[in-house]
Amino acid sequence: MPLPDLFRDRISLPVIGAPMFLVSHPELVIAQCKAGIPGTFPTLNARPLEVLDEWLARITKTLAEDPKAAPFGVNLVMHKSNTRLAEDTELTIKYKVPFVVTSVGSPAPMVEHVHGYGGLVFHDVTTIKHAQKAIDAGVDGLILVCTGAGGHAGFLSPFAFLHEVRKIFDGTIILAGAMSTGRHIKAATVMGADIAYLGTRFIATTEAHAADAYKNMIVSSAAADTVHTPYFSGVPANYLKPSLAAAGYDPDNLGINPDGGSLSIDGGDKSGPQPWKDLWSAGQGIGAIEDIPTVADLVARMKEEYAAAG
Ligand SMILES: Cc1cc2nc3c(=O)[nH]c(=O)nc-3n(C[C@H](O)[C@H](O)[C@H](O)COP(=O)(O)O)c2cc1C
Repeated sequence: MPLPDLFRDRISLPVIGAPMFLVSHPELVIAQCKAGIPGTFPTLNARPLEVLDEWLARITKTLAEDPKAAPFGVNLVMHKSNTRLAEDTELTIKYKVPFVVTSVGSPAPMVEHVHGYGGLVFHDVTTIKHAQKAIDAGVDGLILVCTGAGGHAGFLSPFAFLHEVRKIFDGTIILAGAMSTGRHIKAATVMGADIAYLGTRFIATTEAHAADAYKNMIVSSAAADTVHTPYFSGVPANYLKPSLAAAGYDPDNLGINPDGGSLSIDGGDKSGPQPWKDLWSAGQGIGAIEDIPTVADLVARMKEEYAAAG
């Protein structure tokens, strides 16, 4: 399956800037789209609801003024604990957001809404079972979140997962997990993915809404400095060990968290260090991240690496 028509001639590299809780704000999304790669953000980053209205108005207007800009998308968390889903859906429809990334729950309720105004739905999956359910729900694309990804990473190898999904799906396949360079993006397309989905690499950019200490920790860390654990949010996610140590945890001996059994999409309202805010997430691709450039410079470099990879 080639790229969706929405992206044809409108992207400069087969990459989507993945949505990241707390990190993806309009500055990052706009910079990504202006550099020619679709940017996204979780709607829950815009709080309260009026802020989402303002962000969508600003992003839509700014990108409409740049004929070369790539389209943008929003991430809607479908889990029942997301009490804002109905309102965020209304605003998504109001602004006709070009594409929607659904995660943590069935995409089915969103497909009709988004197709109704001509948008696309891409759904995050970590297993074949969930991929099949999303296909049955009529999604346009599947995001295969593989082992080593930042945030709630999966367990499957990208080689295994992509091959099995391609056998059952002729829609757009978006591959995620531990990619940081143009060569990685090229490798994803050689493997048969239509688009690569990069999160962590964009945390270490000037436009990302992240503390300097977080960006610097990504630059100074490597894969061995990450731990994949359900300890903090009830679902396995990759965290930077130095951020856990700074919060008083022993990252190599976390044990079982008596309070960590249920999924909390935004870290919940527990006291103490908060996942995402204080306990920083990053994927295994951090060993290839050595600087904190602007998004424009990063995408320009990735294009060169992509071309040089053959
Ligand atoms: C700090 C951080 C926050 C994330 N928050 C979200 C989120 O709110 N919603 C979502 O669908 N994915 C989220 N993700 C996952 C990304 O969208 C994407 O799948 C992942 O970053 C890809 O792997 P990579 O980080 O190795 O490039 C997050 C990832 C990171 C690193």
